[in-house]
Amino acid sequence: MIETIQKYRQDFNSRVSSISAPEPLKQLRIDFLGKKGCVQALMKNLRQATSEEKQQQGKLINNFKQYVENQLKSKEEELGKSANRISQKTETFDTTLPGRGKTSGTLHPITQVMEEIKAIFLGLGFQVEEGPEIETDYYNFEALNIPKDHPARDMQDTFYIEGGAVLRTHTSPVQIHVMENSQPPLRIIAPGKVYRCDSDVSHTPMFHQIEGLMVERNVSFSHLKGIMNIFLQEVFGKDTQVRFRPSFFPFTCPSAEVDIQCVICSGKGCRVCSQTGWVEILGAGMVDPAVFKSVGYDPEKWAGFAFGLGIERISMLKYGINDIRLFFENDLRFLKQF
Ligand code: DAH
Repeated sequence: MIETIQKYRQDFNSRVSSISAPEPLKQLRIDFLGKKGCVQALMKNLRQATSEEKQQQGKLINNFKQYVENQLKSKEEELGKSANRISQKTETFDTTLPGRGKTSGTLHPITQVMEEIKAIFLGLGFQVEEGPEIETDYYNFEALNIPKDHPARDMQDTFYIEGGAVLRTHTSPVQIHVMENSQPPLRIIAPGKVYRCDSDVSHTPMFHQIEGLMVERNVSFSHLKGIMNIFLQEVFGKDTQVRFRPSFFPFTCPSAEVDIQCVICSGKGCRVCSQTGWVEILGAGMVDPAVFKSVGYDPEKWAGFAFGLGIERISMLKYGINDIRLFFENDLRFLKQF
């Protein structure tokens, strides 16, 4: 019996090592573990044995059966793996297919225009300053020469907060903070969010402004004109026509509104410019002596100009956008165009 098992084992070993396909492996399983296979034949022989022999030889047969099963199993796994490798080798890849690119975000158009304007003024020697969005009545109005009962307060639909504070209606109060905390000469711009209780195609309750302020000994209106020309031609193109119109702001004197030739119709007249050929782009003027007094600057010694502009308005004209609300709807189809 022992010799028979050894012979079967040698036979099995030589067959299993030469197999490289699933079909002969199946046959090998049948030959050894099948009903008429070697293991069953050994079992049959056992019938004639004594009970002591049965115990001993039964163990040997079971060991051999276990051995065959283990070997067949690992051979099956081996064949399965190489089948995978083969299919990987024979499968072809179309290397001309476009890859699945990662989509990346873009800067919001307001941020882009803001950055562009900041860069222009940094190049002209201005520094960037920031101020709080919640202001006291003093900074938003009083110190800017807008007293309590002044009709100019009606120009700005203010959001009031409990306790007398306001959401700043413009970036002009940053002028006051800066002048309170530093001595002239100075050149600053102050970008940021402002709030007004207003909403239609050209107004949103929150929008962005940039404030500018330059204080020196002998700065004049012609400096203001020069700087505004450089700035607007940088943003809208070298051929942009700029004009100053007399206007009124409580914190500047004299005051002006600045127009550029309509970028939509190049001055011929269209709906955007109400057929005038010009569109208003910013407010500006020479700092009013009353403002200097409120921050403790001597108006006899110092002169300054200031200006303020809306970023959304500039962006709408620059890109030909006709509804300000598009900036705040977060529709990627719109935002991705910039
Ligand atoms: N603060 C003004 C506004 O919100 C804009 C403005 C006009 C600012 C003239 C200025 C200025 O500094 O000189 O409408």
